[in-house]
Amino acid sequence: MSRLIITESGPLKGKVRVSGAKNSVLPIIAASLLVDGRCTIDEIPYLNDVRIMCDLVKSLGASVEIFEDQTKLQINCRSLSTNTAPYELVNKMRASFLVAGPLLAKTGAACISLPGGCAIGTRPVDLHLKGFVALGATITQGHGYIEVKKNGRLKGGKVYLDFPSVGATENIMMAAVLADGTTTIENAAIEPEIVDLATYLTTMGADIKGAGTDTIKISGARELKAADHAIIPDRIEAGTYMVAAAITGGDVTIENVVTDHLKPVTAKLREAGIEVSEELTSIRVRGGNLKAVDIKTHPYPGFPTDMQSQMTSLMSIACGTSMVIETIFENRFMHVCELKRMGANIKIEGRSAIIEGCSKLTGAQVKATDLRSGAALILAGLVAEGTTEITDIDHIDRGYSRVDDKLRSLGANIIRTEE
Ligand code: UD1
Repeated sequence: MSRLIITESGPLKGKVRVSGAKNSVLPIIAASLLVDGRCTIDEIPYLNDVRIMCDLVKSLGASVEIFEDQTKLQINCRSLSTNTAPYELVNKMRASFLVAGPLLAKTGAACISLPGGCAIGTRPVDLHLKGFVALGATITQGHGYIEVKKNGRLKGGKVYLDFPSVGATENIMMAAVLADGTTTIENAAIEPEIVDLATYLTTMGADIKGAGTDTIKISGARELKAADHAIIPDRIEAGTYMVAAAITGGDVTIENVVTDHLKPVTAKLREAGIEVSEELTSIRVRGGNLKAVDIKTHPYPGFPTDMQSQMTSLMSIACGTSMVIETIFENRFMHVCELKRMGANIKIEGRSAIIEGCSKLTGAQVKATDLRSGAALILAGLVAEGTTEITDIDHIDRGYSRVDDKLRSLGANIIRTEE
């Protein structure tokens, strides 16, 4: 089992380059199922989740070639052999459900293992299914699988999402691009990753209007063609390095970012007393006198839930009391128990964490319970007195490309041990 061992590090300094966005590359690999032909995807992050998504499309009959530097891949989905996404893969990564839309559109059916619960909440797929039904599909469920089916082409329809779900918006968009007629998604998610997926689909020949707004209109095409695409930078990875600079009182330039995508994080860090300066494609973060600030997570462009746990670590050493409210997922405070073991003073009340800052954190043996919790523990470990040992780091490798190498290049005392 691999571990990360971190000892108290001084202020981080230097430059770090952000990789392509995990939450873009996963739907974009799934979208490649829509065409017969070779698609090239650039700026691939080196992540376990990417490998799982590649294994999944390969299990459906696609061929995938990852180039030597690991940042580019080619997918050819000309000869799919099945439309069943098995439990072994869906169980490893919930985003596997994103193959449902493209499989349904391309082959007329998709049989996907139910994703099941995960550490941060129940995460149902009812909104994805509501969209498929609006396009004329029927849904059956049994033996742990969901089957979505449509004889003939899907028919464009109207769907209003009760919540602007990122995954549901993507799945419905991918199904609708080959439907007969126009589909309207209302109360759609407006995250930058939705726009990135729409850009890829448009390059394939799809007609999509309004991606990045809450109403998306898709006019179905009879056929799409293979396309090349470069993934946008990962705003959550960037945000995590911004907090790494802030928590250590460092001076770090984060390169390959879209500064607009980072606005909610930038605003909160500035409010907390951190100096943030934006350039065209980079952002410089200099630590300052940390002040407690309140945070409430919201869909984009609100404060991202994927940055909540990292900010909780930061607030545990900031002076004053802060309240962090999680509105997206019902069980996203798993990191708090581990942070408390490191000396943080945090109380959970329902969906709120009340943090008494100014704690001197102390290194401890802790466990990464999910991806962003793991990131929060790394950040805490950088400023904790002594040594922090993080287990279950496969969660961290799901979403952070070579995190130990990148942090070490900034002066962090972090090593990976393999047992
Ligand atoms: C995506 C991101 C994840 C991020 C999340 C919210 C990917 C691969 N993952 O996850 O990193 O934390 O957006 O920004 O892009 N919901 C339903 N029914 C559904 C679908 C969702 O009730 O059918 C609920 C969920 O339980 C959750 C909320 O909607 O409470 C948000 O989920 P959603 O936006 O769908 O997140 P994901 O796409 O799973």
